[in-house]
Amino acid sequence: MAMANSAEELVFNPPELVAKNAHCSSMEQYREMHKESIKDPEAFWSKIAKEFHFENNSVGKFFEYNFDITKGPIFIQWMKGSRTNICYNCLDRHVLAGKGDAIAFYWEGNDPADRNSVTYAELLSEVCQVANFLKSRGVAAGDRVAIYMPMIKELVVAMLAVARIGAVHNIVFGGYSADSLCDRIVDAGAEVLLCADGVWRGNKLVHLKEIADEAMKMCSSRGVEVRLNVVVRHMTRVTHPASLHDTSNGHPAKKTHFDHQGRYKVTWNSDVDVDWETATSSSSSECPVVWLDSEDPLFMLYTSGSTGKPKGVLHTVGGYMLYAATTFKYSFNYHPGDVYFCTADIGWITGHSYVTYGPLLNGATSVLFEGVPTYPHTGRFWEIIERYKVSKFYTAPTAIRTLMKYGDEPVKKFDVSSLRVLGTVGEPINPEAWLWYHRVVGGGNAAIVDTFWQTETGGHVITPLPGATPTKPGSACFPFFGISVCLLDEAGEEIEGEGEGYLVFRQPWPGMMRSVYNNHQRFQETYFQKFPGFYTTGDGARRDKDGYIWVTGRIDDMLNVSGHLLSTAQVESALVEVEQVAEAAAVARPHPVKGECLYCFVTLKQGEKFTEELVADMKNKVRSKIGPFAQPDYLQLAPGLPKTRSGKIMRRVLRKIAVGDRDFGDITTLADPTVVELLFENRPANA
Ligand code: WT7
Repeated sequence: MAMANSAEELVFNPPELVAKNAHCSSMEQYREMHKESIKDPEAFWSKIAKEFHFENNSVGKFFEYNFDITKGPIFIQWMKGSRTNICYNCLDRHVLAGKGDAIAFYWEGNDPADRNSVTYAELLSEVCQVANFLKSRGVAAGDRVAIYMPMIKELVVAMLAVARIGAVHNIVFGGYSADSLCDRIVDAGAEVLLCADGVWRGNKLVHLKEIADEAMKMCSSRGVEVRLNVVVRHMTRVTHPASLHDTSNGHPAKKTHFDHQGRYKVTWNSDVDVDWETATSSSSSECPVVWLDSEDPLFMLYTSGSTGKPKGVLHTVGGYMLYAATTFKYSFNYHPGDVYFCTADIGWITGHSYVTYGPLLNGATSVLFEGVPTYPHTGRFWEIIERYKVSKFYTAPTAIRTLMKYGDEPVKKFDVSSLRVLGTVGEPINPEAWLWYHRVVGGGNAAIVDTFWQTETGGHVITPLPGATPTKPGSACFPFFGISVCLLDEAGEEIEGEGEGYLVFRQPWPGMMRSVYNNHQRFQETYFQKFPGFYTTGDGARRDKDGYIWVTGRIDDMLNVSGHLLSTAQVESALVEVEQVAEAAAVARPHPVKGECLYCFVTLKQGEKFTEELVADMKNKVRSKIGPFAQPDYLQLAPGLPKTRSGKIMRRVLRKIAVGDRDFGDITTLADPTVVELLFENRPANA
């Protein structure tokens, strides 16, 4: 029986102001374009490809693929044989067209006093300098270059410089630990690292170089030597938070990381480390691009895998370029004159596609923000929107829920009336947060676009179009051009019309991943094995009576903490590294701000005690193995875990215990059903 869902009954028509000049301005037009993109992808995308520069003026063999594992290896190719370069299309193309003086980025530091901007022409010359320097140090096409930087201009410069010379960037989010950074450098076989000394995030100081040094040491012991580390001395130019100078209780970083003159200290290894500024400023600001095949790799980006080992999601140049550019243009209804602000870190796919590539490919002007939404005050986003008259804004449900807690006042203090489109991404958005975003931030006049996609998809795959789609709070609405959505039941039968099932796609689109780096087997198994002939997202979804898609969340052993995807296996393997721990099981528990948080059950070795100290050790272990965002909210001592007779942990039961719900369902297949009651009665006091 279908449950009555009140949010489903709410429908918001596209705001008139947006529909008036939309690239796609009606559902009729959307349906027509979507139909063409599915029936004749070649005709659809080759029209779009003409807007970009391909060196040999052709778009190669347009489109070939195999999606069916039973018929042979999976492969996907778009425009193979045509040559292009994404950096050229992001920068040179606009500069040559006389738009070099346009602002590419307004940079807003963690401290509101730190601000500057960079034009397309300036960006191009800096990119060339870095590209020339990398070339002079032997970096060539196909080489992997790791990047571990905060949200500063140099991060954009770094990725574009790498792309310009045909190398492959491997950006690691600045919130990851040394262990995680090392794993990603080793798996990619990267010999060169680009990083920064440190960064303030609010009042917290992240010692990026120190973490990178530790990671490089670990890499070395695993047989991978990083031979060059180019370091941006960012800390020498930023305003430090007042708390650093607070003499009453002192900032913890002051004693350990600043010298007596107040300068940030870093250790320097002259065999490997070079200063970014010294190294690159003397290089020529002109650098020819390396033309690549459309199907050559552009970047890899690691995402959690259900086995616990992160996968290097591999994207290629040509198709990704078309898709990032086109989704940016249509999903945000981008027009020249817009000021766009995406709050995501470039270390995640959202930042790759919608801070760097999508906007630059469209010649857009964006805000690049280093800080956090609540520093130095809870209206920081709104202040930035007022300052730059931002018209298109893109953030995550977890940020919206965080800011909602402070009420409407912080928004009302600023003039945010320039906003036309408000995007959200990362996890299903609850209707309450959607409605607040719409009413308070958008003043009822902005289009909300709930964009569903993944690291693997390269760009939006299910999203409303702001000038066309009537939206329902909590629904990502309809497939983007080129996406053929299908819902399947457990047996692989297609669910037509209303219903719920596995969310899969029937045919490739230009921006989809091509492989898992160095592990094509894993690519095939993860995404193509379960339902031959389809790309499996790993999410569940429901289609309502009007055809709207409602993504319900992961149906594998993954969880989503504040928009960061984690696998339970990854957390469990960190926990069992703590000496006293025998076994661990992690599950997701709903959380009012983070969306989901971690609830972990741990079994200790004989004779060990579940002390506060041990709990702290376990939390620290997860922080250091993965990163601070992965820290469990709840840890419960488990004398035993509910297992089936074949030894598989029954996670659905643990999820019930985590939320205090006694409705366990059928537990007769458990080897020892009494353990369930025992765990339920011993839930921690804070749960
Ligand atoms: C997973 C992908 C794509 C950028 C950020 C995350 C969840 C993402 C939505 C949305 C419902 C969403 C899915 C997906 N997700 N956006 N609008 N509605 N769920 O990238 O780390 O690759 O995570 O995030 O579960 O599979 P990612």
